[in-house]
Amino acid sequence: MGLTALCPGTFDPVTNGHLDIIGRASETFELVVVAVLENPSKQPMFTVEERVAMLEKACADMTGVEVTSFDGLLVDFARRRDGAVIVKGLRAVSDYEFEIQMAQMNHRLAGVETLFMPTNPSWSFLSSSLVKEVARFGGDIEGLVPDEVAARLRARVEEGR
Ligand code: PNS
Repeated sequence: MGLTALCPGTFDPVTNGHLDIIGRASETFELVVVAVLENPSKQPMFTVEERVAMLEKACADMTGVEVTSFDGLLVDFARRRDGAVIVKGLRAVSDYEFEIQMAQMNHRLAGVETLFMPTNPSWSFLSSSLVKEVARFGGDIEGLVPDEVAARLRARVEEGR
């Protein structure tokens, strides 16, 4: 059996940058498990159910991609997916510092390996936080997230007004 990749994140909400990494991982690994963190320290805009639903829809055409959620330590989730490796996208050097720290901690805690994939340069400026900020102030988020996510973002911003 081939390797399983774990793509963990807050995904609040999923962006086209995340989808690029998930899609490319699905071409390399037999199975990609997209794992949505239930209770991040940051206050999410979308519930875990909403974040999972948006990802499921966005990944529907990809082969070998499963979307689920987890709480607690990522390595505990990884242990339940025996032999899985964590796959993370790196946008810029600024991502590296924290990502390498987490990768080394996860390795120290449970021997879980992390592989980094360079983000497609088309998305190197993109983050969920920036997309939310642009949406909050009425900016154009078209083409940065799937259409359905853009619609949900606009609706959530309207609800908050
Ligand atoms: O999309 P994000 O917010 O950059 O993802 C960060 C995530 C979810 C991968 C990270 O916060 C995480 O793994 N959280 C679970 C708790 C945990 O294992 N913490 C120790 C990390 S070394």
